Amino acid sequence: MPGMAEAVMTLDLYSGAMDWERVYRTFHDPARVAVEIDRALCGGNGPVIFAGFQETASHLADAYPVTFIDYSPAITAHARQQYPDLEAVLTGDVTRLVGTLAHPHVVIACRLSAYWDSQTDLERLADSLRTAPRDTVLIDFFDLDQIEPGQRFLFDAADGRGEWEVLELAPPAGKEPDFNRVKMRVSYRFDDHSFSYVGARSFFRQQAIWRWSESNFPDYTLALGPPLLDRDPGFSLRLTRK
Ligand SMILES: C[S@@+](CC[C@H](N)C(=O)[O-])C[C@H]1O[C@@H](n2cnc3c(N)ncnc32)[C@H](O)[C@@H]1O
Repeated sequence: MPGMAEAVMTLDLYSGAMDWERVYRTFHDPARVAVEIDRALCGGNGPVIFAGFQETASHLADAYPVTFIDYSPAITAHARQQYPDLEAVLTGDVTRLVGTLAHPHVVIACRLSAYWDSQTDLERLADSLRTAPRDTVLIDFFDLDQIEPGQRFLFDAADGRGEWEVLELAPPAGKEPDFNRVKMRVSYRFDDHSFSYVGARSFFRQQAIWRWSESNFPDYTLALGPPLLDRDPGFSLRLTRK
């Protein structure tokens, strides 16, 4: 069962064995991601639900009350201990927990959408977002039109090197919003250790996300923009209430 293998892989990756904070800090600058998010929130105030890099959540907490969500208990335990400036830290699936909170801003960033592997995830997210009026919703996605099999992405840094290799694209599921699961080899090398794994991630087409947004959020103005992580093959979606 491919689904089971991936579930185990996801659990292993975020069970605390890997120092993801170090990876994010080395290759992706969590503070800069927070600046991009702040810009997208257009100076709006009010509490923010945030799922993504925990250090980015902490930078955002300088300007907003932030509720950080992650479904890995190891990640949320670390966030609670390391970032007391976060207003709340919740363990669970963001696509469900958003529906229990009336926060005006919802930010699902730092490639988390790559883990949505069925249309049900997106339907659940849409239902959860609609449980309360939101001022802003911001989500980043990997872009299917920016990759092809065999392609490599390099993330060079002063003290490390990251590399992703696109191994295989699964055919689209054929339902709206359509997306493809992409098998990738991900490797990160530091001076003192390195690690590598093969995993499947979801890549989306901008037009499909646009159609999904139009049909689910008629009361919002839609905008597609650049990815939140500047070297990612991706794009971002912003919904602002009309
Ligand atoms: C922020 S993404 C980054 C992915 C990967 N490490 C990278 O850099 O490409 C990884 C985090 O998302 C969390 N996550 C994935 N799907 C989730 C979901 N549906 N709800 C809450 N957290 C989720 C994982 O537990 C993990 O901590």
